[in-house]
Amino acid sequence: MPKKKAAPIQSVKGMHDVLPEEQLIWDFIIKKGRSILEDYGFLKIDSPILEQTNLFERSIGEGTDVVDKEMFNLKTKGGDNLTLRPEFTASFVRAYIEHGMSAWPHPVKLYGIGPVFRYGQPQGGRLRQFNQLNSEIFGDETPAADAEQIFILCKLLNEIGIKNTYVKINSIGDKSCRSGYIKALKDYYRPRLKKVCPTCKTRFKKNIMRMLDCGEEGCRAVSESAPQALDYLDIECKNHFKLLLEFLDEAGVPYILDHRLARGLDYYTRTVFEIWSEDEQINFALAGGGRYDYLVELLGGYKTSACGWAMGIERIILAMKALEVKIPESKHNPKVFLAQLGDLAKKKSLVLFEELRKSGIPIQASFGRDSIKSQLRIANKLGAFFTLILGQREALDGNVILRDMESSAQELIRLEDVVEEIRKRLKDK
Ligand code: HAM
Repeated sequence: MPKKKAAPIQSVKGMHDVLPEEQLIWDFIIKKGRSILEDYGFLKIDSPILEQTNLFERSIGEGTDVVDKEMFNLKTKGGDNLTLRPEFTASFVRAYIEHGMSAWPHPVKLYGIGPVFRYGQPQGGRLRQFNQLNSEIFGDETPAADAEQIFILCKLLNEIGIKNTYVKINSIGDKSCRSGYIKALKDYYRPRLKKVCPTCKTRFKKNIMRMLDCGEEGCRAVSESAPQALDYLDIECKNHFKLLLEFLDEAGVPYILDHRLARGLDYYTRTVFEIWSEDEQINFALAGGGRYDYLVELLGGYKTSACGWAMGIERIILAMKALEVKIPESKHNPKVFLAQLGDLAKKKSLVLFEELRKSGIPIQASFGRDSIKSQLRIANKLGAFFTLILGQREALDGNVILRDMESSAQELIRLEDVVEEIRKRLKDK
């Protein structure tokens, strides 16, 4: 009787492996992101994945979906309450304060890349572990900073190959105009509470602005005619928004004003925005962000204006696949495969492999295999242009067989000429 196989263990719901064949697209996006952000003077920062839970409670805000429902919390043996970061912004602000960045020349421009965790209901484009590319500017209160952030983000998406994007944008004012707006929303929604979903009934008490962008049909019908934040902005907020839109016009960034865009995080002031694709198959935001002029102070720093964005890398990949975006081939795709047969050939092939690798020729081999047939099969699968075959005989005579994988033509060449020959022939491929 064959032994019973142990039950396989699956990855955690909403969390995925990134397999070798997907690494190319990941590298491509991350490289583009780093290169454009560094061109614009952003510095990279890595922050820990675990933070004190109260960092997120105080910044993102109790009453938000992220804090109330979606945090992965844990208690350490020492009794600390920690959380797997659900985003970067709060961590960057903590780091900005902790490392005395207020003394650095301003603006301080930071970016980071890495996994974030939200315990939501996984579905197309929504995961429990996903990766963000996140960008923040500290210490610039002018609309030029908001415009710079939006412009960079759109440029990046365009360079990645996601062309037809547009910005949904809104201003939700600041402390001085927010209370008038919240009162207007309460007056509007109170007599209409029967028509909204149970979650929005709770939002009415805890986070009324989130009622605006609820996706439920009934709620959408009600929010359509809700008071608009733009009508409650004071003169400074109005001017900020007007100037920002002028910047975007000048830069040719397409946008639509969306009076229902509130975003799910409490720290925003004035500008909020999201980037969407015009392609209907892509039915989620590719990126989102906004201004948060009180957060540094709220977390114990000096009053410092800030604005930023984050984009979800998995969503970018979904969009690239839907739009059939082609990415450049890796220069590491093997152009040459080294096959060997017999003990002496095996030993010599390690040295030959190293010689070719050092000369910058993309090469692969399967040192453990003995059958030439199976090695040629691998070479074909990898798309190698040439296979070098080193048998017992060739190893003794100081030769190697060069096989053209397309024509199957084979010829004998001297081992010392291999690098030069391969170089010459690869030029014609
Ligand atoms: P957010 O809108 O919560 O903003 O997330 C930013 C982006 O992360 C989204 O546009 C989306 O691409 C991706 N994303 C969000 N949730 C998920 C999910 N469950 N699965 C897959 N992708 C997801 C923030 O995180 C803010 N911290 C952005 C920011 C930076 N605001 C100012 N500075």
